[in-house]
Amino acid sequence: MTRKPSQRPASPPRSRDTRLSTLHLAPESLGFALDCAAQAVGAVRQGAALPAALHSIFMSFPEGVATSSRGAVQDIAYRTMRRLGTAEWLAAKLVRKAPPSHVAHVLACAFALLIDEASNAAYAPFTVVDQAVNAIGARREYAFAKGLTNAVLRTFLRERDGLLGDAQKDAVAHWNYPVWWIDAVRKAWPDAWQDMLAAGNSQGPLTLRVNARRSTVDAYLQTLREHQISATQAGQHAVRLDTPMPVDRIPGFNEGVVSVQDAGAQLAAQLLGVQDGMRVLDACAAPGGKTGHLLELADIDLIALESDATRARRIGENLQRLGLSAHVRIGDAGSPEQWHDAADPPFDRILADVPCSASGIVRRHPDIRWLRRASDIPALVEEQRRILEALWPRVKPGGELLYVTCSIFPEEGELQAQWFGNRHADAVRLDAPGQMLPEAFGAPARGAEGGAASEARHDAAAKAEVTATVFPVPDRTADHDGFFYARFQKR
Ligand SMILES: C[S@@+](CC[C@H](N)C(=O)[O-])C[C@H]1O[C@@H](n2cnc3c(N)ncnc32)[C@H](O)[C@@H]1O
Repeated sequence: MTRKPSQRPASPPRSRDTRLSTLHLAPESLGFALDCAAQAVGAVRQGAALPAALHSIFMSFPEGVATSSRGAVQDIAYRTMRRLGTAEWLAAKLVRKAPPSHVAHVLACAFALLIDEASNAAYAPFTVVDQAVNAIGARREYAFAKGLTNAVLRTFLRERDGLLGDAQKDAVAHWNYPVWWIDAVRKAWPDAWQDMLAAGNSQGPLTLRVNARRSTVDAYLQTLREHQISATQAGQHAVRLDTPMPVDRIPGFNEGVVSVQDAGAQLAAQLLGVQDGMRVLDACAAPGGKTGHLLELADIDLIALESDATRARRIGENLQRLGLSAHVRIGDAGSPEQWHDAADPPFDRILADVPCSASGIVRRHPDIRWLRRASDIPALVEEQRRILEALWPRVKPGGELLYVTCSIFPEEGELQAQWFGNRHADAVRLDAPGQMLPEAFGAPARGAEGGAASEARHDAAAKAEVTATVFPVPDRTADHDGFFYARFQKR
């Protein structure tokens, strides 16, 4: 695994610090994991998504990286995303002159492991310090910073409580989100913002969707019991495992009996109420989670549209595992002429699971908060409107469009639904959960301001009345991500 000079990747990934020298660390060592995780953190800081950054780093080893080593790298990189505000605050506090970025990122990863006492069981503090020093020493151009790394991390261990206490006074260090994000959540949800930010720093549960064509929740729970896996029902088709595990160890996963899908995301297909024979458009479909669910519920004629050809491939892969099929098309949902003939019949149902900030799913994608900018939100709002406007004429009279985002920002949720309702006199807003805030940490069930009264015409007067959801979410005890759902029927 140790890369020889001649084995350098021909074209290092964009995210990788191209100045890094050849790495000589045992791949099973914590030092190796810290080095790779630090590269991933550096890539995120330069704008790359964490999964893509990790993939690039693993691919840069021609001889491959063992699964266990990958697991350690991923674990450290994800932990660091959830603690990056504190880790960077500590580095700024303890290092007088800013170190080279790779050294700063190794320090950030080491701090992330040291801060979190729960992680001490997996990573003994003094081992973390020694291995961080090894990681720095393994890069000859940074070897000069070994002493600094050792001193800074040992100072942290000595003065841990005082330093962490001081860090609490800084909003970014305390919450581990950028300032604009903290402000936006506080403004939108003045009673819940702290729970919500804290929830985003937890790890989401592993929730499965039972394929209604193949099994039932009760039967699948029995199968799990036979495998000594404890789990509970978390929705109409949802089962939450008490302890996450790799998918290939989940009974029936490879055979398509179950899929991994958050309990909140599972409401989409249910809300669409598909029935045999319907023509359905899944307008922003990749990787096909909701596509698969729709096909499990009824025999429908489904177009799965996706603008990103690479991501679209995953729809086919997911459907293949489930033994189901759809017409997968590559195209822009905002330009129907690309994928829908004017002469083609309109759709009974359209699912508009539009691109959004993904601010509701940060616990599973903790890098998102560091990648988004405040200016992304208005741009996303515009894009969502463009897509909605293009799709509405394709809904047949009496048909329905479901607008979905995995966002907690009202601009992408209720405000967007109101904007749409105001523009279209032929749009009747039906029951839907509206804003579902993430529910980890036993937060109270909150439909939030946003659900529509049944069959109520969504005009300005009706909107003023709408304060709470009336849609019965199947299982309020479910631990789910943040979503927004609005359902419109065409007159
Ligand atoms: C929220 S994700 C969809 C998740 C998917 N529905 C699922 O459940 O697995 C949004 C998707 O929309 C795609 N997308 C973005 N802009 C689009 C557009 N203009 N037309 C079609 N798809 C688009 C993105 O590439 C992304 O795959």
